[in-house]
Amino acid sequence: MSPMQIRKMDDMHVHLRQGDMLHRALSHTAVQCERALVMPNTIPPILTATDLVKYRESIIEALASVESFTPLMTFKIVPGTTPAEIHSLKAHGAIAGKLYPDGVTTNSEGGVTDFKALYPVYKAMQDEGLVLCLHGEMPGAFSLDRETLFLDVLRTIAADFPKLKIVLEHATTADAIKCVSELPDNVAASLTVHHLYLTLDDVIGDRLNPHAFCKPIAKRPEDRDMLVKAATSGNPKFFLGSDSAPHPIPSKECACGAAGVYTAPVLLPALIELFERNNQLERLEAFTSEFGAKFYGLPLNKDTITLTEESWTVPDEYHGVKPFLSGSTLKWKVAADKTTAAVTDARATVRAPRA
Ligand code: NCD
Ligand code: ZN
Repeated sequence: MSPMQIRKMDDMHVHLRQGDMLHRALSHTAVQCERALVMPNTIPPILTATDLVKYRESIIEALASVESFTPLMTFKIVPGTTPAEIHSLKAHGAIAGKLYPDGVTTNSEGGVTDFKALYPVYKAMQDEGLVLCLHGEMPGAFSLDRETLFLDVLRTIAADFPKLKIVLEHATTADAIKCVSELPDNVAASLTVHHLYLTLDDVIGDRLNPHAFCKPIAKRPEDRDMLVKAATSGNPKFFLGSDSAPHPIPSKECACGAAGVYTAPVLLPALIELFERNNQLERLEAFTSEFGAKFYGLPLNKDTITLTEESWTVPDEYHGVKPFLSGSTLKWKVAADKTTAAVTDARATVRAPRA
């Protein structure tokens, strides 16, 4: 089989973390993606222009030889966010703000409960051309209904801010796909790889699998099938946002396990298999490398990534984190060309954190 070449991806939702984890996990994303939208739910969070500039510097510092990777920076919208800060964030390179409802996911404590109170913030974002990224789950609702119940919030904000670009992040339900499809073109949704594979049964149907536990939780087979249909449909409203979220194994395998699935190491190989299975391989590149860029108003990436048909078994762990599909055999492997050769071994090639 001849190698496959596709335009480098834009991962429009990734958790790169900080410190040691940032240094260890970054290369998986940087090798496959030319850009990634970096989530701001760090500790402490990215709230101000100063935080954003510092975080971007630490990401760039952690990149060793992958000079072509660009982190797309975001800030966290909290109840205290002000329009003045929005203008400053934009001036310092933010391209999106992420709203986490209170308590619905990792590091979202103290998040938003009153979505209307932030109207001056949405207005400032609309004026500045910043994208509003929504973690679409209603706090306090029954876990399987949280996303569906949030859709009214999405509809209301979209109606009141018709020029604001809004992304429903990591959509997990057929209801969300229908809602986003019906809303005007200023509303889109990101889709993860794991939600294209998993249902709730993969998390709790047999023995508990904490490594498939994430927010929003994977739903019913018919929801998963609708996500696959959206991803492979060629509809530009649906694009890749992996939500790759590394947590150390002890934080997952414990009595109070953290939410998040680490998909970065298998991102493109897992997507190729899924699109191939659905006879839609020709639509993969648009999903991974065009629709997100177009929605965000960015030029398309210039570099390509090469994959060879060479089966490999996904390791049990990378640097203390269990990757998605660990133990499975995948058919396509990211080739170590001159750009990627230096970073194939994440540990050896990403700079050590400063002491
Ligand atoms: C994410 C994380 O670990 O930061 N976890 C997750 O389950 N998706 C946060 C998020 O995006 O919800
Ligand atoms: Zn996320």
